[in-house]
Amino acid sequence: MEPSSPGERIVPMRLQRFLARAGVASRRGAENLMSAGRVRVNGEVVRELGSRVEPLEDVVCVDGREVRLGEDPAYLMLHKPAGYLSTMRDPRGRPTVAELMPLADYPGLFCVGRLDKDTTGLLLFTTDGDVAQRLLHPSFEKEKRYAALIDAPLSARAKRALEQGVALDDGPAAPARVRVLDAREREEVPFALGKEPDGAMAVELTIHEGRKHQVKRMFKAVGRKVLALHREAFGPLELGDLAQGSWRALTGDEVRLLRAL
Ligand code: URA
Repeated sequence: MEPSSPGERIVPMRLQRFLARAGVASRRGAENLMSAGRVRVNGEVVRELGSRVEPLEDVVCVDGREVRLGEDPAYLMLHKPAGYLSTMRDPRGRPTVAELMPLADYPGLFCVGRLDKDTTGLLLFTTDGDVAQRLLHPSFEKEKRYAALIDAPLSARAKRALEQGVALDDGPAAPARVRVLDAREREEVPFALGKEPDGAMAVELTIHEGRKHQVKRMFKAVGRKVLALHREAFGPLELGDLAQGSWRALTGDEVRLLRAL
């Protein structure tokens, strides 16, 4: 789960939309400004209404004064479905989480960390590189709560090993909090799995590291295979009942909690 780089993908937006978002005028008003030849992009007058700009790169001026989008960073969470890569662009053209996000409205949005392709659950997006760095930096690593469906019951000994910190090939995992979910709790987790095999068990695991395939490797270290994995919480953020494949902007309180980290 390596950090993704801020600004991995900048989506061009229509000039009139850019002007409206920057608070210069309504969309219609912006079109009038363009038609009147009052808008320049990188020094060139642009009258054509379908023209697009790269919001973080192009210099847009109205009547000779530079216009920028508001500086307020965006913070959104996605309920990631299985089958999508946690990246903003895949050179091989496979489905990515970027397809599920309103990139045209939030230029410069990127995902904070990664979930495996088959993992579901909470994935945070932001345009705020500082907050992303703080959330991902090993010295700040925040708690992440997962529900894992494993192939067979967890023995008391295996549970204790996870709680004490199992050995992984890239160094010991820090102690985890482990809780076996009861039938009612298990029902509420939208595991991406067809028929559940006999003997499978649902376990909640809370860790505060984010190494690659960490949860799957931790269970493997105690002889269990993860059949399905779902992230329920990331730092102070809870996925709650956000529908799979949907996103929402964080509330003011959630943003304050993130910034206070
Ligand atoms: N641990 C994993 O093994 N996979 C994920 O997607 C997240 C945590």
